[in-house]
Amino acid sequence: YAIGVDLGTSAVKLLLVNQQGEIEQVVSKEYPLLQEKPGYSEQNPEDWVEQTIAGLSELVADFSGDVEDIEGISFSGQMHGLILLNSNHEVVRPAILWNDTRTTAECQEITEKLGKSRLLKATKNIALEGFTLPKLLWVKKNEPENYQNSSLFLLPKDYLRFRLTGKLHTDYSDAAGTLLLDVENRSWSREICELLNVNINLCPSLVSSHEMVGMIHETVSERTGLRVETKVFAGGADNACGAVGSGILSGNRTMVSIGTSGVVLSYEGSGDKNFNGAVHYFNHAADNAYYTMGVTLGAGDSLSWFRNEFAAETAFEKLLQEAEDVPIGANGLLFTPYIVGERTPHVDSTIRGSFIGIDRSHERSNFTRAVIEGITFSLNESLELFRQEGKKIDTVVSVGGGAKSNLWLQIQADIFGVDVIKLNSEQGPGLGAAMLAAYGLGWFPSLASCANEFLEEKQIVKPIRDNVTMYSKLFTLYQSIYANTKQIN
Ligand code: XUL
Repeated sequence: YAIGVDLGTSAVKLLLVNQQGEIEQVVSKEYPLLQEKPGYSEQNPEDWVEQTIAGLSELVADFSGDVEDIEGISFSGQMHGLILLNSNHEVVRPAILWNDTRTTAECQEITEKLGKSRLLKATKNIALEGFTLPKLLWVKKNEPENYQNSSLFLLPKDYLRFRLTGKLHTDYSDAAGTLLLDVENRSWSREICELLNVNINLCPSLVSSHEMVGMIHETVSERTGLRVETKVFAGGADNACGAVGSGILSGNRTMVSIGTSGVVLSYEGSGDKNFNGAVHYFNHAADNAYYTMGVTLGAGDSLSWFRNEFAAETAFEKLLQEAEDVPIGANGLLFTPYIVGERTPHVDSTIRGSFIGIDRSHERSNFTRAVIEGITFSLNESLELFRQEGKKIDTVVSVGGGAKSNLWLQIQADIFGVDVIKLNSEQGPGLGAAMLAAYGLGWFPSLASCANEFLEEKQIVKPIRDNVTMYSKLFTLYQSIYANTKQIN
């Protein structure tokens, strides 16, 4: 057996798989988000540790087999968060998370000091508020004492792993989201550290995601029941692990994940393409591979918002069922899902969403349908960016909330114009983490062969030609809304 730990933003989810990839147990433990000021988003790393230990104890206590058979554990983690440690490896201040937006000035500073082309050449990415380097510069400027006291930074799942093993590392896929890694050469960028006056020794040592970095610490063993011989593997960024757990491991394989935010993620065999920063370009959790990624900030979030405000008493399933009876285009109603701004393709935190074309005859079902279509149009904009670079995408693996509804699967197939595949498992990142442990343990000769054993295509939804034609016209209209509503703000 292997355990996959997915350290998320609202909860840690632990799952136990057997060697056939069957998920035998799932445990989830929540922790709070600290929002001291608007735009701030922090967490107490101790909460991650305590809740993970509680979850592991529960998992082991409920396990019907022999604990000796739990051979390994690995991690998937929320990306970009900054944890600072002093020379005694104690946490200096609360973790600043990926969705914290206090660092606009630092992003400008990075872009000005480095220049966009130098930044892109080294890191493959542009400076965004969520990334780690701007957070480090914010602490340096605003909390000089904390910065002085810091001797190392870690990313969220690395801190958790450190507390379980006593070993300090990060892996390439998470390092890629710091804006300090030379992504193509897989080493910390001396150039960026020097130009921004960051001591390169603050950066942790780098390992591959399937690498074994240690074993379970005695005190953790006592508290959880896991054996001290349990092997601990590095793990990766949640999006990279989500890609592993969805079989995005070769060629042009592409995944669309609709959760609170939406992610369009595509496998890249090399790090030498140039997307000019239009999409994220990070190291994969699979060795010597990369992925590109576009993000719709308000994906499932738009549908939840709509339901909470206008249909709180109605179950999601019922809302979606109503929308099935509405024709394509929601009888002339269009929605843009920019309710918390938009990342891809606009990188605009101030734009806001819209309903356009409201008619007196429209009922709630038209609005629901428009929301779902608008979210899917936004995801299609990321796919278009990949296609513009010559990428041929003919299938998409759909995971998350968007894969739970047949209506939404068909809308995805019709808007993306490709076959949409639904897998046997919905556990993307946590399963990907368990797969990294499975591969690291030597159960399989490669991650791809692990995916062959663990993952199964449950359903293939084909695009309907007439629908594709109708949606393609509406997509052009949708794309024109951004520029025309920008002035409203
Ligand atoms: C990726 C990102 C989020 C976090 C969420 O760039 O910011 O997907 O990884 O956990």
